Amino acid sequence: MIIILIGYMGSGKSTIGKKLSQTLNFEFIDLDDYIQEMEQLTISEIFKNKGEIYFRKQEHFYLKEVLKRNNVILSLGGGTPCYGDNMQAILTTEGAHSIYLKSTILNLVQRLVTEKSQRPLIAHLKTDEALTEFVGKHLFERSFYYSQSNQILLTDGKTIEGITEEIVAGLF
Ligand code: S3P
Repeated sequence: MIIILIGYMGSGKSTIGKKLSQTLNFEFIDLDDYIQEMEQLTISEIFKNKGEIYFRKQEHFYLKEVLKRNNVILSLGGGTPCYGDNMQAILTTEGAHSIYLKSTILNLVQRLVTEKSQRPLIAHLKTDEALTEFVGKHLFERSFYYSQSNQILLTDGKTIEGITEEIVAGLF
């Protein structure tokens, strides 16, 4: 089985993924970390030095690679399901269960305000208003892909432990 966590930047994919991997005793793979390790560059450096198109190509390549694994919790980048045939690949992987961690724009922005700098798509946005406007539009476009996940889990007002328990309860 492979559990795939999907959602916008700041939706808690990595934090919940780590917790889930401890609970289920599955390996945890964060696709961004995996790409950074394989490319020997940070995500920001890849965007800056090689451009977003290169990043999307590598993201696609490494996604296909990790989708072959078993007993894994995989947390994706916020854009991963939205490019090429990535979502199709996720949905047709045998034994895969994809979960969209859905939050309101307000909650996403609150988390992203302090974590903007490592995220090349939003690092340049100077004010909270600009960030809110960007996230609102971007999330609207991306929801089309995210919503195709096998499960949609609303995370607002829930703890990491509560979300993890909810996911585990739904699996068995
Ligand atoms: C991106 C999200 C990031 C990372 C890259 C692009 C996106 O991952 O893959 O900066 O397009 O939303 P997180 O969702 O883990 O921040």
